[in-house]
Amino acid sequence: MTAGAAMETWVLVLSLWGAVSGQNITAPIGKPLVLKCKGAPRKPPQQLEWKLNTGRTEAWKVLSPQGGSWESVAHVLPNGSLLLPTIDIQDEGTFRCQATSRSGKDIKTNYQVQVYQTPKKPKIVDSASKLTVGVPNKVMEEERSKHNPENGPSVGTCVSEGGYPEGTLSWHLDGKPLIPDGKGVSVKEEASRYPETGLFRLQSELLVMPDQGGLHVNFSCSFNPGLPRRRAQHSAPIWLSIGEPVEKIQLAVDPEGGAVVPGGTVTLTCESSVQPTPEIHWIKDGMLLSLPPSPVLLLSEVGPEDQGIYSCVVTHPTHGPQESHPVTISFIETGEGRPTADSVEGSGLGTLPLVLGILGGLTTAALLIGIIMWQRKRRQGEERKSPENQEEEERAELNQSQEPETTESSAGGP
Ligand SMILES: *[C@@H]1O[C@H](CO)[C@@H](O)[C@H](O)[C@H]1NC(C)=O
Ligand SMILES: *[C@@H]1O[C@H](CO)[C@@H](O)[C@H](O)[C@H]1NC(C)=O
Ligand SMILES: *[C@@H]1O[C@H](CO)[C@@H](O)[C@H](O)[C@H]1NC(C)=O
Repeated sequence: MTAGAAMETWVLVLSLWGAVSGQNITAPIGKPLVLKCKGAPRKPPQQLEWKLNTGRTEAWKVLSPQGGSWESVAHVLPNGSLLLPTIDIQDEGTFRCQATSRSGKDIKTNYQVQVYQTPKKPKIVDSASKLTVGVPNKVMEEERSKHNPENGPSVGTCVSEGGYPEGTLSWHLDGKPLIPDGKGVSVKEEASRYPETGLFRLQSELLVMPDQGGLHVNFSCSFNPGLPRRRAQHSAPIWLSIGEPVEKIQLAVDPEGGAVVPGGTVTLTCESSVQPTPEIHWIKDGMLLSLPPSPVLLLSEVGPEDQGIYSCVVTHPTHGPQESHPVTISFIETGEGRPTADSVEGSGLGTLPLVLGILGGLTTAALLIGIIMWQRKRRQGEERKSPENQEEEERAELNQSQEPETTESSAGGP
């Protein structure tokens, strides 16, 4: 009794589970597909019914062995299976069969059909032949991505045609995955569908800002299918050399060294050999200055707020921005803020204490050096007992001959 009831519940659970989860089928586009109706008698008379909910049906379409044909789309075979002669994207969906077996048991089968088409091997088009090291500048990158995210050194565009479902494209550098980080590595992706077939065309443009020159690297791309158990497709690799920067940017500062008196004037001049002159922006303490681009930055009546670290950034149309070395602008140390004559006089008066100070310093230094030398000699003596580096034989011999002497002196030293 109890066992029977449990069995019934178990069967109910199983059949519900079966109806809910079913079976996932992936089928290649353009090929025939046969779906079995489980439990159905192999030959007529049969009691069975197929129900389809796919891209071709509006709600459920019912097929039975009697009215078993739906034009060229699908029909029920004599053994109860459902045949779809040519699978297409529109055939994706749910297929259910309900059959009554010879023993009178109702059995349900549930299929989720997904179709796929393996695309052509991806290929890389519009590939660069050479990349140039650009010094990636975070500030400029942020600024640039606001205005024109498309500007950047392009490695090439990977194209995958005729795949289904969509899938993804990924890039590899010397066989290792290249993960877009939005800074040194970024991609521009586009997906579209062919109207006639519904198949996908994917493209991914790779933008890379190399930070190391003098290398040869290879790039390749892969199509990763959006379905489990389907293999990725790899493009042929392309070879690129990465060159050193085309030019060094010169940043000149006047007065030299960037030391200025309060209220004075500083001129920063950024020189780039590229013609026509590219856009030049200025950075102070890591912040882009909101000034119109100019190769010259003039700071007049310099105040405390003008002190800081300056650099210029040259933006090339073809490769990334390059930043100059930094220059520090600071006030000259003047006692009372009055330069020239006064300070010269002041330094004259201060000569005596200065000389005394130096002499004192020298004495201390001499003492210190003396102590250090003495300690070093002592240590060398100890080390020589066990010479580690067997360099030239000559030296080793020398050490050996000196050994007893040194040992004696260090023993009697302190
Ligand atoms: C069938 O695929 C769906 C996702 O499409 C998944 O959630 C489910 O677990 C799969 N079922 C089986 C039996 O693999
Ligand atoms: C029914 O017949 C088709 C074609 O003759 C065959 O491919 C399929 O395996 C058969 N189904 C069963 C359940 O035997
Ligand atoms: C590209 O790099 C990968 C990984 O280093 C290597 O296996 C592959 O042979 C290279 N391709 C060519 C054409 O050299």
